[in-house]
Amino acid sequence: LARGVAGPDLAGRHVVVSAGGTREPLDPVRFLGNRSSGKQGYALARTAAARGARVTLVSANAGLPDPAGVDLVHVGTAVQLREAVLKAAADADAVVMAAAVADFRPAVYASGKIKKKDGQEPEPVALVRNPDVLAEVAAERARPGQVVVGFAAETDDVLANGRAKLARKGCDLLVVNEVGERRTFGSEENEAVVLGADGTETAVPHGPKGALADTVWDLVAARLG
Ligand code: CTP
Ligand code: CA
Repeated sequence: LARGVAGPDLAGRHVVVSAGGTREPLDPVRFLGNRSSGKQGYALARTAAARGARVTLVSANAGLPDPAGVDLVHVGTAVQLREAVLKAAADADAVVMAAAVADFRPAVYASGKIKKKDGQEPEPVALVRNPDVLAEVAAERARPGQVVVGFAAETDDVLANGRAKLARKGCDLLVVNEVGERRTFGSEENEAVVLGADGTETAVPHGPKGALADTVWDLVAARLG
């Protein structure tokens, strides 16, 4: 068991984890997407299951093998992810939003493949906002005492941006990591600072994504009491 804890400290708990990255379709063959591999979210799901939790993993386009002992819900878009997360959150003790949710989606979906026109420049792609699932879950708190955790990848002013984002989202914990060309995406390892709404700051040194997952569950378990 993680960190030498005596028993499965998440036994009897239901936790929801979102993982991967949403894809927002332009037409039947194209989408707007992002580089999230899903590995951190899958590590969170596996770790929670190992610590005794019932786990619902809402997975967006991760292309990873299904973890054993986890209820898996596959989704494609942000709107689908919202629906699956809100449904599972209704009786959850904790919700961890590790998925990279697209902020925008194409305003129009072309039901047929978009074609080039001879001698014409392409039309610009109009976008609309997607719902903010984390902010919605945090505002709703489907169950009293539910612990809500967000993730943030930042490239600049990591801690200041993280603090502001934590407040804006209204979540209990925000896992902030610095990203760049060669950092985090697709890698097996991660390095982060977990900010608490109570002002706490927990630094997690560079290491396997499973170790960061265990720290997140330690902090969640402490808040569940
Ligand atoms: N998130 C979400 N719904 C969205 C966008 C983000 O639930 N439409 C969640 C992510 O799953 C993550 C957290 O919010 O847990 C932070 O995501 P991030 O993209 O860093 O936050 P944004 O508010 O979208 O800020 P930014 O403009 O920096 O992208
Ligand atoms: Ca975003």
